[in-house]
Amino acid sequence: MSELNNIALKISSNGKGILAADESTSTMTKRLQSVGVESSSESRLKFRHTLFSSESMKKCIGGVILYDETIRQLYNSKNIPEIILATGALPGIKVDTGAKILANSSEEKITEGLDGLRERLKEYYKLGARFTKWRGVYIISKNYPSELAKTSNAHALARYSALAQECGMVPIVEPEVLMDGNHTAEDCMSITADVLKKCFDELIQSKIDLKGIVLKPNMILPGSNSKQKISTQEIAEMTLECLKKNVPKDVPSVAFLSGGQSEEEATKNLNTISKINNTNFSMTFSYGRALQQSALKYWSKNQDDIEGTQKIFDHRANMCSLASKGKWTEDIEKK
Ligand code: 13P
Repeated sequence: MSELNNIALKISSNGKGILAADESTSTMTKRLQSVGVESSSESRLKFRHTLFSSESMKKCIGGVILYDETIRQLYNSKNIPEIILATGALPGIKVDTGAKILANSSEEKITEGLDGLRERLKEYYKLGARFTKWRGVYIISKNYPSELAKTSNAHALARYSALAQECGMVPIVEPEVLMDGNHTAEDCMSITADVLKKCFDELIQSKIDLKGIVLKPNMILPGSNSKQKISTQEIAEMTLECLKKNVPKDVPSVAFLSGGQSEEEATKNLNTISKINNTNFSMTFSYGRALQQSALKYWSKNQDDIEGTQKIFDHRANMCSLASKGKWTEDIEKK
């Protein structure tokens, strides 16, 4: 097995998933302000270090995606990648520089960050990163996503992946079809299928070693403003069908984003997906909000109660880990 394939499996299989703690400073500031905490490099580090030093890191988390600020921070004279490595998880890094307005389709976005990427990747490798993340975003509405948005983002994801692999790191390929809107799950499915197909066409053309990537897709869900009611069984079946048809078999694992689902929804849906899993892919989580929300809320009122915050995070991580094996139940959730 190649080193990249080893890393891909290490961060996203055997009951382990990925903690996405790579919110940009502006996103993290919004998250902290929403719970009444002032955002500073100290407060961001304090909360994140509380998660990184939790018990569940050893059993449930295979990799942590960091933001540029965090990968360079020290806590008690130890650098953050070292602290993560000591738990058995691998440090990873978000390398895109954000989604900007796409010229000639101004309601849509294109993810930037390719200029100078090779040099940045080399530095991140030296800082300890062994995998990377790049997120392309797609909106669903009457006229979108456009062909332009689909091809431009797929092309950027492929160029990024080639550079990450060249530098010895696994690229997490994240084409996120957003939940916003009143579309049906069927709309989400057909658009996600097309987005994935275009991404893999570009990845293959760029000669990416597909065994050395992790795919981070959205689940197939009705839009957040849709009135459609759909069961977890239907969500799982549609998600699996979409991945089976559009993702090449060489890809070792799929780590879903939570995308605005509640913690419990994201857990329950992953559990049903893993239970049915009729694909070759290992299925797990790469959650940001669905792992951190409750812990952040508690921490905002009890910033010195590290143990209490960790207990909440540990519960969430354990639930997600069980879900990745199809072993989560509502009873265990409530315990
Ligand atoms: P959410 O799970 O909160 O969607 O975040 C995952 C992520 O990494 C988005 O890029």
